[in-house]
Amino acid sequence: MAGGRCGPLLTTLLVASVMALAATEGPDQAVLPAEQSRVQPMTASNWTLVMEGEWMLKFYAPWCPSCQQTDSEWETFAKNGETLQISVGKVDVIQEPGLSGRFFVTTLPAFFHAKDGIFRRYRGPGIFEDLQNYILEKKWQSVEPLTGWKSPASLTMSGMAGLFSISGKIWVSNLKQLYLQRGSE
Ligand SMILES: *[C@@H]1O[C@H](CO)[C@@H](O)[C@H](O)[C@H]1NC(C)=O
Repeated sequence: MAGGRCGPLLTTLLVASVMALAATEGPDQAVLPAEQSRVQPMTASNWTLVMEGEWMLKFYAPWCPSCQQTDSEWETFAKNGETLQISVGKVDVIQEPGLSGRFFVTTLPAFFHAKDGIFRRYRGPGIFEDLQNYILEKKWQSVEPLTGWKSPASLTMSGMAGLFSISGKIWVSNLKQLYLQRGSE
């Protein structure tokens, strides 16, 4: 599994090629009808929705190729969300440092299960079949919940959002540095 995580050198190369592609992309490609995504982008402003019901969340960064590798599986998972009675969301760690900093994640993508405000880390491969089984067979029950100050639920109501937004920003830049360092080794 660890080997499937973001390779930073690869990241740099991919970012470069994606940027090159974007630069050459004409308006024709841009108007292709994209199928409506069922993955709900979550932000600090509607994070309270995650405190209710059952959710699976994916934390990702735009510059992380292994985040993109699991995109289609995550999309399939979201399309089956209604059947599985689960909401499927994603959090951009760059856009939402205040949210993602709370989870102290050092690898991306990072997946979390939330049920009635109780958070657990999902450490599977992020492929549809495994995600589906995780929910259907309630595999999350055997995973230790995140507790205490690490729990996002406890922070949401604490009025410390500003503080955590700052520490989250530091966290994101540290995380990015970590990737870049690994790339140059
Ligand atoms: C949360 O807010 C974002 C940004 O406004 C929006 O794109 C997204 O659809 C919202 N998600 C839900 C579940 O309401």
